[in-house]
Amino acid sequence: MEKNYQTEYRIKTKTSAKIFAKSLKLHVNGVSHNIRYYEPYPFVVKTSNGKNLIDVDDNKYVDYWMGHWSLILGHGPKNVKGALKKQIEKSWMYGTVNEQTIKLSELISKAVPVAEKIRYVTSGTEATMYAVRLARSVTGRRIIAKIDGGWHGYTSDLLKSVNWPFTESESSGVINEEKIISIPYNDLEGSLEILKKHAKDLAGVIIEPVLGGAGCIPATQDYLRGIQEFIHKNKSLFILDEIVTGFRFRYGCLYPTMKLDPDIVTLGKIVGGGMAIGVMCGKKEIMEYADTRGKKKSERSYIGGGTFSANPASMTSGFATLSELKNKNSTYVKINDLGDYTRKELSKSFDGKVIVTGKGSLFMTHFLKNGITEVTNASQASMCDVNALHDHHFKMIAHDGIFFLPGKLGAISNAHTKQDIKKMILAMGV
Ligand SMILES: Cc1ncc(COP(=O)(O)O)c(C=O)c1O
Repeated sequence: MEKNYQTEYRIKTKTSAKIFAKSLKLHVNGVSHNIRYYEPYPFVVKTSNGKNLIDVDDNKYVDYWMGHWSLILGHGPKNVKGALKKQIEKSWMYGTVNEQTIKLSELISKAVPVAEKIRYVTSGTEATMYAVRLARSVTGRRIIAKIDGGWHGYTSDLLKSVNWPFTESESSGVINEEKIISIPYNDLEGSLEILKKHAKDLAGVIIEPVLGGAGCIPATQDYLRGIQEFIHKNKSLFILDEIVTGFRFRYGCLYPTMKLDPDIVTLGKIVGGGMAIGVMCGKKEIMEYADTRGKKKSERSYIGGGTFSANPASMTSGFATLSELKNKNSTYVKINDLGDYTRKELSKSFDGKVIVTGKGSLFMTHFLKNGITEVTNASQASMCDVNALHDHHFKMIAHDGIFFLPGKLGAISNAHTKQDIKKMILAMGV
């Protein structure tokens, strides 16, 4: 991209610049989630509504980040807002058992067959942390396998092999990294070779059925089924991380459409309807390891805690969101179609110079470089021109009133229209 859009950005975000300077004094990097920082500074949001984010300088952006992809119905959908208002009138924190949780669990357990037992937390990170602990408790083994490029939140256990070249430690302060091994996505032979070497001590494998942050890349059914077959024969546990994919493409999870039989599934994002949530669910006999009643410490897995777990506000907004999705299957038809359209038209507009990956309403554009001709794993995604994607996204923020978190995948919500998508494709192609 020839033009430098930083000047244009600085001119239109002067109030953001001032406020972010304060934020920098108070917060590390000025942010509380590392990926929210981008150069020269992120704009500061004043409000959001439907498909739009509005910043403190009154710039409006059509949002494709959509609250870390959690807002499938858009910002502030009417029924969720209404339900939350009513709940907040009553209270937003009990710290005790409440019926809102049971209502949400009834929906989840009907839509996700493996959810025979459920536990709530307040982030996806906690859900995957507990899933891993549970797998270790149940099997009495120590090693967990994850994918090169797999992202499951900031849990110390899973903070390995997230970023290219997948060999260096992602952070200091993380110990026992040798107990986490990493396998290549969509490469069954390569993965099995590694898993077999660790089979005796292998507690489980954790996989996203669409690799999210590392490229928005769907796994093939053969790959996941092949991994599952090995895992089950080996008496290890198969953990599917559906924190991004759960309720994103259909009312329920992705795994039944791939004829998979996971032992534990983690959910988050959409099932909280934009409020803090993480969900761990799974087969009864496995989840019941977490039952603390009448068991010795050595016989149980101690998971489930959190002051704010199953708080009535998150449970209510999750219930309202899932109810809307359940009653209106047309939402999925609409956003999945828009996603197909986006992938097709974006590929066309770059005339073979990009590959647009994704599934349903999620998409990501990879600018081809280094002889890459397909993007089926995180290594190939990393070898594409990741700076080009970042620059295109930044240009759209500065110039076109369109927001992607620079370099990240885009999510279409029910608030977007085909007209929005057409504008975004045009803006992207320039
Ligand atoms: C697949 C996946 N798992 C886990 C997480 C962590 O969830 P949270 O950010 O709610 O802790 C994320 C977050 O983006 C994710 O994409």
